[in-house]
Amino acid sequence: MTSAMLGPPSVTVRAPAKVNLELRVGPRRKDGYHALSTVYQAVSLHDEVTVQVADDWGITITGSRALGVPADETNLALRAARTLADRYGVDEPVQILVDKEIPVAGGMAGGSSDAAAALVACDYAWGLGLTKDELGAVAATIGSDVPFLLHGGTAIGTGRGELITPVLTRGTFHWVLAAADIGLSTPDVYRHFDTIVEREERSVPAPAASMELMTALRSGDAQRLAAHLRNDLQEAAVELRPELGDVISSGLHFGALAGIVSGSGPTVAFLVADSESAIDLAVALAATRTVSETFRATGPVHGASVRGVARVD
Ligand code: C5P
Repeated sequence: MTSAMLGPPSVTVRAPAKVNLELRVGPRRKDGYHALSTVYQAVSLHDEVTVQVADDWGITITGSRALGVPADETNLALRAARTLADRYGVDEPVQILVDKEIPVAGGMAGGSSDAAAALVACDYAWGLGLTKDELGAVAATIGSDVPFLLHGGTAIGTGRGELITPVLTRGTFHWVLAAADIGLSTPDVYRHFDTIVEREERSVPAPAASMELMTALRSGDAQRLAAHLRNDLQEAAVELRPELGDVISSGLHFGALAGIVSGSGPTVAFLVADSESAIDLAVALAATRTVSETFRATGPVHGASVRGVARVD
């Protein structure tokens, strides 16, 4: 077969999930977002996003967690691809295939990661050759944590979470992610955070990353890191869904070094000492009533990156 007979390449990109090791929430800004200082870590639970130039725009969702993911213009991956095309004057529609493994609406940035992956895949398929910063500028218009998913690794996010500074870490950290089957929307959790602040008449200082956390990450010592995990949205998430408090208590009871609501939840991320402890904890938690599913993951891992390019007839 000669190359002239081949169709356009299909480009497959791996999209990681994330956990927030620290999420400090500052005052609400004029645009409605909250000033953040967050420390993201990309972890080894992945969706796969494949794009191929086609006659029309479209998106298909497959995989074990496809249920409930919109396969229309509201899907962040499709929005990201179309925004990139508009920005760079590309007139080549793509068909997007998302193979979902990351729990949906769980606080693990699955939808945002698919968007980051779609940007990387389209950049490749269209031969744009954009830098990470150029892709990052488009990513930030799609969602606050999309730029991080392009970078991966471990990084501080400031602004509303979209301004990324890489963080030095040593070694690999082991996580058990406990998904609870209780919907929790990100805007609702931020809104409830505001309600608590008002109710308790708290002052909300400008957020900043903790130096102790940075030192713990550089040490590679999970025990040390465990002492400095923090999520300012956790109180709001637990008030809205008290079951989350039970999930955290169960994980600690079964030997986790620390447990924290991931982002705006409802997934809870448990830090454990090693892969053996991760297996033990995942099994023990899966047997509790409040946890619908558990996953083991390690971090940090790479951000959205091309996994393969296939040319099909
Ligand atoms: O940026 P993204 O679309 O992911 O944000 C979803 C929602 O989360 C926002 O509409 C807002 O309600 C809330 N949010 C916030 N402050 C941030 C990030 C998100 O209030 N820094």
